[in-house]
Amino acid sequence: MKDFIAGLPKCELHLHIEGTLEPELKFELAKRNGLALPYESVEDMRAAYDFDDLPSFLSVYYEGMNVLRTEPDFYDLAMAYLSRAAAQNVRYAEIFFDPQAHTSRGVPFDVVVRGLRRALIDAENQLGVRAQLIMCFLRDFQAEYAMATLLESLPYREWIVGVGLDSDEKGNPPAKFAAVFARARQEGYLLTMHCDVDQENSTEHIRQCVEEIGVNRIDHGVNSLEDPKLVEAIKERGLGLTVCPISNGYVTDSMKTDAIRRMLDLGLRVTINSDDPAYFTGYVQENVAAVQEALDLSREELVRLQRNAFEITWLPRQVKDAYL
Ligand code: ADE
Ligand code: ZN
Repeated sequence: MKDFIAGLPKCELHLHIEGTLEPELKFELAKRNGLALPYESVEDMRAAYDFDDLPSFLSVYYEGMNVLRTEPDFYDLAMAYLSRAAAQNVRYAEIFFDPQAHTSRGVPFDVVVRGLRRALIDAENQLGVRAQLIMCFLRDFQAEYAMATLLESLPYREWIVGVGLDSDEKGNPPAKFAAVFARARQEGYLLTMHCDVDQENSTEHIRQCVEEIGVNRIDHGVNSLEDPKLVEAIKERGLGLTVCPISNGYVTDSMKTDAIRRMLDLGLRVTINSDDPAYFTGYVQENVAAVQEALDLSREELVRLQRNAFEITWLPRQVKDAYL
């Protein structure tokens, strides 16, 4: 099975590029930018990755990205991820980035997006892995800042396929961003939002995503299983769910693989993804392997999970068909 999983052409749809920043690259970028890090070594840094819920993870995640300053830094970050992805036989990825996590500390939007874009072009030419960018708004900032970021992105519209919503969900429901997402849709962006696992109002947040925002996809969305009406609505609209098992194991008490089993049985378009692999210690291949082991998935089921992912990509129909 290990070889079968390694050889399977894979698709990754839930991956925060800032969450791929490995300690080794953090040290390299800190040196390049003349910054001191509060850790002696890579091992020290890894040992400090001590989180057990979403907020405790997010504080380490935001602190870590402080070393990203220049266009080449963003280029190197994305190239490092895409090289790993290519080595795991990932053929296509949709990559989240968090512009406000950079503009809020003085790094221009243009620097972020140009560095990432250049890496995507080089990776396609040099590594044969294709990718597109999804811009996420930070939900714990005000909606006005998200709207300003959306407007700032418009000159780069052709480089960004869609918008998402991430960061701390507590007290920050999808409805807070209804006007931002309505405008994003008008501008031609596709829409997704995080509905993280086991949040205070998980099912209500998923309902808002589906019924009020009209998303094209849901990130995580595991708690939809608690409400049969939600499951029906998700099926009826053909919405994909980007589930991240190893990440779930860090921010909750379990990888939620039973939920993946149920989603498969219900015919939902469930997919397996890595989220923040530098922090959750597993890229897409390790995530697929963990689910296979937990559920004793067959080869057909492993293929189904990858087909689900390719089917729900935000690629033009003809390009998508070539993967299927
Ligand atoms: N930003 C990066 N990773 C995230 C996650 N797992 N949930 C919410 N926001 C995030
Ligand atoms: Zn995520």
